Amino acid sequence: MSQQPFLTDVKTLRERARQHIEQGAVTEGYTADRENVINILNEALATEIVCTLRYKRHYYMADGLSASIAKQEFLEHAQQEQQHADWLAERIVQLGGAPNFSPEGLQSRSHAEYVEGDSLKEMIKEDLIAERIAIDSYREIATYLGDKDPTSRRIMEDILAQEEEHADDMAGLLEGIERLHTNDA
Ligand SMILES: [Fe+2]
Ligand SMILES: [Fe+2]
Repeated sequence: MSQQPFLTDVKTLRERARQHIEQGAVTEGYTADRENVINILNEALATEIVCTLRYKRHYYMADGLSASIAKQEFLEHAQQEQQHADWLAERIVQLGGAPNFSPEGLQSRSHAEYVEGDSLKEMIKEDLIAERIAIDSYREIATYLGDKDPTSRRIMEDILAQEEEHADDMAGLLEGIERLHTNDA
């Protein structure tokens, strides 16, 4: 596991996700608040870009008979993560900010990780972990936004609902693969 250059433990990722939220609680005035919302949305944007790339990688690398269903899910999720990235970029611009699409530092801005995975099962597992991290951090973001920015909150909630579906899809696939392996044995 230590050779994974991007691997950060889940606790660190969640702490990172909370950093701006905590800063947000102490900022005063509309401008400061808006800046903070833009920062938070840019982190969510980075998360979506990383998730798009990871699902694309998994889509192209998934191989074998049992991979056909997973392959389709990976592709569909990649397209939905891309859509989420677009919603976030659009909102950031509406708020007077600039969406950060820079590849430099992308992984450190993202809450979820880019893990390639050596087998189909590993890929699905990594996707499930990434979705669960996104779900946790997006839920916190939505709560933080509260009534301060209902439009951004609604966008985060719409994305959150789809990440929950994604996690459910990955959990289903993982269960299917484990059942397959049990039958083989
Ligand atoms: Fe997403
Ligand atoms: Fe997702």
